Amino acid sequence: MAQVLWSGRLEEKPEAEAFAFESSILVDARMALDDVRGSRAHAAMLGACGIIPADAAAKLYAALADMARELEAGTLAVDADVEDVHSFIEGVLTERLGDLGRMVHAGRSRNDQVAVDLRLYLKRVVPGLRAELLQTIAALLDRAEEHADTVMPGYTHMQRAQPVTLGHHLVAWCAGLERDAGRLSDALARLDECPLGAGALAGSGLPLDRRMTASALGFPRPTLNSMDSVADRDFALELASACAILMTHLSRFCEDVVIWATEEFGFIDLAEAWSTGSSIMPQKKNPDFAELIRGKAGRSVGDLVTLLTLMKGLPYAYDRDMQEDKEALFDTLDTTRACLRIFRPMMATARFRKERMEAACTGGFLEATDVAEYLVRKGLPFRKAHEVAALVVRDCVAAGQRTIAERTLEELRARSELFDADLYRAIVPASCAAARSLPGGPAPEEVRRQIGELRKRLGV
Ligand code: ARG
Repeated sequence: MAQVLWSGRLEEKPEAEAFAFESSILVDARMALDDVRGSRAHAAMLGACGIIPADAAAKLYAALADMARELEAGTLAVDADVEDVHSFIEGVLTERLGDLGRMVHAGRSRNDQVAVDLRLYLKRVVPGLRAELLQTIAALLDRAEEHADTVMPGYTHMQRAQPVTLGHHLVAWCAGLERDAGRLSDALARLDECPLGAGALAGSGLPLDRRMTASALGFPRPTLNSMDSVADRDFALELASACAILMTHLSRFCEDVVIWATEEFGFIDLAEAWSTGSSIMPQKKNPDFAELIRGKAGRSVGDLVTLLTLMKGLPYAYDRDMQEDKEALFDTLDTTRACLRIFRPMMATARFRKERMEAACTGGFLEATDVAEYLVRKGLPFRKAHEVAALVVRDCVAAGQRTIAERTLEELRARSELFDADLYRAIVPASCAAARSLPGGPAPEEVRRQIGELRKRLGV
């Protein structure tokens, strides 16, 4: 077992299995660069404040800069036998600089160190995740533009409800994803405070300059309270929540895709590269990628529950339970990113079967609401208009007719004198969709406006 940072106090060491159990290096190794950055800022501040000699600080700073380069080049590999990434970085420093390396931890604890490392890591990777999300929105908006006037059934209760456009449906997805992008930005803005200098929980009696390290690390300010600094993982909860919601969205979109890809619906034809075959049934073309994204949403929801459960019983301030935060948080960030990177090309290459979508608007009386609105426009109170339209639908069903247009004007007039020949134009599916041109509606022109608005808001 490698030397641990706390070997002075305890003579007996944990057994190998116990050491492996408490070690976090396999999970926190990905914060190595962030630990080096935090350590550099801390060392420079110790020198500037006269806590360690200036030349010692300069040597620490230079050695840490070398380590950063080597980590990036892959010539310095994280040693899996140490307790955690903080022990690893300080260990290498001490190996290289001897006693000088032992100076770096003055006024610092792994409790504030892990808090700053994690925030630095998140500031480094979450913008990339957000960029993936924006690219996904952009790809969906391209498809929405292409299909601004492709008419399809809109559903409630999984029953055909009213004609909409595919563009409208795809912009509905994007509206949710825009909020996801907002949630990621909000979480990033709120985590942008530097916990360094909080020490184990009570700060330090040494004259540290917390503002200096905060600004060297690109944080606008230090955190307010040292106990909160090491006890708080709200930022992890917020990001895990943002990811769980985003994944819930992707899961629902994929559910739509899986349904659309059935022979029964036949609304979408996924590209071969984004489908899989069956090991036994030669004819199969399965939407496994969509199903996997839907399945992986479960992980993200689980990760959020893990984090909330982890935090809910913890007395202030730091408790070792918190080490478990990273595995769940990294898992949800990785999962979300991976899913976006699959979902985007899957949707960009899919072929939408316009003819099937349009055909599905006929039969099912999706035009019934438009019949009622037609009568409202002619002065009939809506409740009456609704009743007339319902009776017309019943007449159709009794006569074995699939659409209201199959009824003659005479038959319609038996239900209301207000019907005229212009009704027939109003109840063509494309007209029904086009008539709903209010802000937010499915009319092609309005969908194009929504697309433009989202593009402008998000810069995509
Ligand atoms: N690996 C630990 C974590 O992730 C670092 C902090 C350890 N602090 C301690 N007092 N043992 O939380």
